[in-house]
Amino acid sequence: MWYKKSISKLVSEAEQSGEGTLKRTLSSSGLIALGIGAIIGAGLFSLTGIAAADHAGPAVMISFIIAAVGCAFAGLCYAEFASMIPVAGSAYTYSYATMGEFMAWIIGWDLVLEYALAAATVAVSWSQYVNELFLLLGIHLPPEVLSGPFEGGVINLPAIIIVCLLSLLLMRGTQESSFVNNILVILKVAVVILFIVLGWQFIDPANHSPLIPVNEGEEMVKNGQMGFWEFWNSDYRGHYGWTGILQAAGVVFFAFIGFDAVSTAAQEAKDPKKGMPIGIIGSLIVCTILYVLFAYVMTGLAPYTIFSGDAKPVATAFEKTGYHFLNTAMIVTIIAGYTSVILVMLLGQSRVFYSMSKDGLLPKLFSDLSKRQTPWKTNLIFMVFVSLFAGFVPVSDLGHMVSIGTLFAFTLVCIGVLVLRKTNPTIERPFKTPLVPLVPILGILVCVLMMAGLPIESWERLGIWMLIGVVLYFLYGHKHSKIRKEKEAEASGPSE
Ligand code: ALA
Repeated sequence: MWYKKSISKLVSEAEQSGEGTLKRTLSSSGLIALGIGAIIGAGLFSLTGIAAADHAGPAVMISFIIAAVGCAFAGLCYAEFASMIPVAGSAYTYSYATMGEFMAWIIGWDLVLEYALAAATVAVSWSQYVNELFLLLGIHLPPEVLSGPFEGGVINLPAIIIVCLLSLLLMRGTQESSFVNNILVILKVAVVILFIVLGWQFIDPANHSPLIPVNEGEEMVKNGQMGFWEFWNSDYRGHYGWTGILQAAGVVFFAFIGFDAVSTAAQEAKDPKKGMPIGIIGSLIVCTILYVLFAYVMTGLAPYTIFSGDAKPVATAFEKTGYHFLNTAMIVTIIAGYTSVILVMLLGQSRVFYSMSKDGLLPKLFSDLSKRQTPWKTNLIFMVFVSLFAGFVPVSDLGHMVSIGTLFAFTLVCIGVLVLRKTNPTIERPFKTPLVPLVPILGILVCVLMMAGLPIESWERLGIWMLIGVVLYFLYGHKHSKIRKEKEAEASGPSE
């Protein structure tokens, strides 16, 4: 179970072309679009307001910067791997090359939490904005079909419908999906820029003052009226002040999830050595700039307290401008933006399982390609799986699972860079993570800290999911692993 896949073998496999392999159709700009497609979504359009109202106030801008720095550490590590091993499996494949098969399996299994469940989470938010649109048009959908049984409804039908439609698009082809994604990304970026530009003139400076709302507990600690641990275990922690900024960073981290999805498409990149670092780091930079400006305008338009519990803060803030007649158009565009997140997440998921199946760790059906060279059976299976979650599970539970799964994956990728620099120092690295070991170590620290801030139930669920994964590995993956079979044949070869 500790066998590793050799990097040269991975690279040569990735360079094969023709039948049974994925097509290289994505350019650097297509990759940046793919990244932005996965990144800007529910995190920005739904969580910014909540993070400001409950935790950081106008300083949610600083929270975005902190979350971005954390992601950048991991992003730089991803970029090194993705340019060096440009195959479809992303973090799964990197772990196979660095930490062996068992860790690779663990990470591949964990990525289901990131990709499949993120698709489900955003599908649920998608359905909330769709409902808002219908209301604006005077159509009242029955509440039973708008949310799952734990949230007062029966089934979240719109969420299921969008997951099915996008899965069908992915089955049609990557190029077609990338084309649709590019259009959605243009719309989504346009709405963000429009919000910033139009909203700017209506900013009331009074809403930004004070930038960091006072946390009375923090003040008491400073004045010696309260001990640090007493403060830490009290309700003061995380409600404004610097602890609030940090907690909000954990919330808006969700808004950055997805930049790594670029790396799952490495095998479909025209020039992965150049395109991968550009796609990953480029999309991260573009989004961070947009996020900070967006948060600045949003908290400038209205007092931050107004956004408490508001799932559509963009609409609420935009009401304060003289352009509220654009509200409907804005909501339509936000819906389009969410759609691209779901699309890229579903794409990423199918590519991870494609790679695992190619290695024999999952049944062959997961890597069967259609005539259009898409892993359509995987798309179909995840269509059902993601629909079940989107239709029936509460959105906050889903969101926490996505965050913990993603942070776990990021941590392992950072560790992987450290390991590979030691075990394989001479291999060609078209992109090198700067300041190793500092950057990966900081990446690990930030990710573990953010994981520590998540509710205990998310840890328990992560544990249960992983346990199921370990059982499946020993029942299937370990027995069918191609690498293990090859290595054992090699070992027994000379004596025969
Ligand atoms: N980053 C993605 C979003 O905000 C998952 O929707």
